Amino acid sequence: MEPVKIGLLGLGTVGGGTVRVLARNGREIARRAGRELMIAKAFTRDPKKPRICSTAGIELVSDPWQVVEDPEIAIVAELIGGLSPAKELVLGAIERGKHVVTANKALIALHGNEIFARASAKGVMVAFEAAVAGGIPIIKVLREGLAGNRIEWVAGIINGTCNFILSAMREEGRAFAEVLKEAQAQGFAEADPSFDVDGIDAAHKLTILAAIAFGIPLQFDRVYTEGITRITPEDIRYAEELGYRIKALGIARRAKNGIELRVHPCLVPARRLLANVEGVMNAVVVKGDAVGPTLYYGPGAGAEPTASAVVADLVDVVRVMTADPENRVPHLAFQPDALSDLPILPMGEVETAYYLRLKVADQPGVLADVARILADHQISIEAVIQKEPKSGQEEVPLILLTHRVKESAMDAAVAKIERLPSVKAPLHRIRLETLE
Ligand code: HSE
Repeated sequence: MEPVKIGLLGLGTVGGGTVRVLARNGREIARRAGRELMIAKAFTRDPKKPRICSTAGIELVSDPWQVVEDPEIAIVAELIGGLSPAKELVLGAIERGKHVVTANKALIALHGNEIFARASAKGVMVAFEAAVAGGIPIIKVLREGLAGNRIEWVAGIINGTCNFILSAMREEGRAFAEVLKEAQAQGFAEADPSFDVDGIDAAHKLTILAAIAFGIPLQFDRVYTEGITRITPEDIRYAEELGYRIKALGIARRAKNGIELRVHPCLVPARRLLANVEGVMNAVVVKGDAVGPTLYYGPGAGAEPTASAVVADLVDVVRVMTADPENRVPHLAFQPDALSDLPILPMGEVETAYYLRLKVADQPGVLADVARILADHQISIEAVIQKEPKSGQEEVPLILLTHRVKESAMDAAVAKIERLPSVKAPLHRIRLETLE
């Protein structure tokens, strides 16, 4: 049989890794796919640039539409990232009846509903394993491996940069800004660091995970997103003292009245495997009603780990490209006409436990005042740390852990606590999940 011709859009880290993996494992991959996969054409802005792969045998073009419009190309792999022109190119490929493989999380999170609708109308596939958690095959897990389950929740470390920063802050007691600079120098942070540290990158990925876990449309604009920029080495130390680690998590949970979709720093019991995922590694815990909790761990970025996911998608597409579209796995795991309109809950409705750090005057009755306000809002205290004042200081840190409570009740309590004359600075709170 003729090789399947693939066109690459982008020959950077992921594109270069894809060429390298296909060149090295081509025979093994052909045995799996049933046909040889051949990268026939690749778009690159600068054909002369040194790259991590050999481009021998690949026609290099400087206009991406030369790939998309080539009638010989059966699958377009979009690896340029960003929204435009990636969206136009992906839709252009779909209109021409080509299958698409993409690593573009922002594109899928923001425009996936439209892209999948067009792809279904044209009977082509759009595969996006590489868009979430790099080399971890979490899309396949949720879409196929756990298809017998009612998924209860998904919680993941899905941004390696945040995890690297929080790990280094904990291990070395360093401040956020200093460690961020190091992450940027090491090259795995996004071009705009706010995408990582403000949680936007994780929110893109969580949008995709939630859609395929619960069979809901992609709803990026409904994700609550909070970054890690306000986490201090002191918070990390106090959390450790109480038996917790602080992780940047993406959480999607099926609650009584809807779905929770949130990205934020979170205390996690130190004994959980997820709490022990360090550095740039990613990990996702999926709780299904039948299987219970399952954990998936691996590199969330990098040339060959991401290429591993891209090539797996190429193999999947090649295996079923001649099958009837109805017999393929649906893009969002559930049949398009069976998507649910479960609402995404506002944060006020979300229930979590909390870590609270206050700076208070060292005088009688302060703890009692704070405890009274919490009790008035039905918030139960789980643990307390109060440090002795340092010599010459009249203010002390007061750390509290609370039981689970609705965020709206905590908001009301915090507003009152901050008005107490003995409370000397805005209260600092971090959500806490036991992940039981
Ligand atoms: N900037 C991302 C991260 C890379 O740090 O995880 C992969 O999406």
